Amino acid sequence: GCGGGEKAKETAGEGEKQGAQTTKLVFGSDTAYAPFEFMGEDGKLKGFDVDLIDAIEEVAGVEIEIKGMNFDGIVPALETASIDGAISAMTITEERKQKVDFSVPYYASGQCVAVRADNETIKGFDDLEGKKIGVQIGTTGSIEANKVPNAEITDYNIIGDAFLDLKSGAVDAVVNDFPVTAYYIQQGNDDVKIVGDMKTSEHYGIAVPKQKPEVLEMINDALATLKENGKFDEIYKKWFGA
Ligand code: ARG
Repeated sequence: GCGGGEKAKETAGEGEKQGAQTTKLVFGSDTAYAPFEFMGEDGKLKGFDVDLIDAIEEVAGVEIEIKGMNFDGIVPALETASIDGAISAMTITEERKQKVDFSVPYYASGQCVAVRADNETIKGFDDLEGKKIGVQIGTTGSIEANKVPNAEITDYNIIGDAFLDLKSGAVDAVVNDFPVTAYYIQQGNDDVKIVGDMKTSEHYGIAVPKQKPEVLEMINDALATLKENGKFDEIYKKWFGA
């Protein structure tokens, strides 16, 4: 499961952030999206986004709890401001911008096609016509897959389940964010391969309810500081290399 509702991030014991004035914010995330957000073997949340939130907490002097939820529940939760923000490898799109505000972009990404390593017929997006495609619900990958003529789309709450169905043959391809699929293959899943070029050029942003401009300002100020002081680059190198 995606860990819906669990208290994913332990905030106790962080001595420098104690004090009555500390603002505590709750940010939503689908925490099954390595290397951006995933549960480590020690039961702690890990990933690029998680490190970024930790660094934002530090420079902004706020406490942020990451709350696990389904990806397609995040924008609705932001619209009602039942969460204070979201970090979830979320692409900044015009459609989402009607409903939520986004921080400055923090990561460049795009959609790719993954197939079984022994597949020699699907060589990229152009070969997907009429094929069975797995996607995560509510994602930009789902939008791209739905543009393919006559494709049979299967929606998954958790992208890992789409990859399992790819391996078993239940789907022919998975359309998903390139860095996530590449990381999945790199983690020992060499029976899967990426084919063709990236289809889209996307940028991830931290999303905030339109009702909370002060949170957006805090995030953008913190991101600017982290880009200036080298901390952002340090986190980037840790997860993606130089
Ligand atoms: N970048 C894609 C989108 O915004 C996929 C994000 C999925 N994120 C996740 N944590 N599952 O639609």
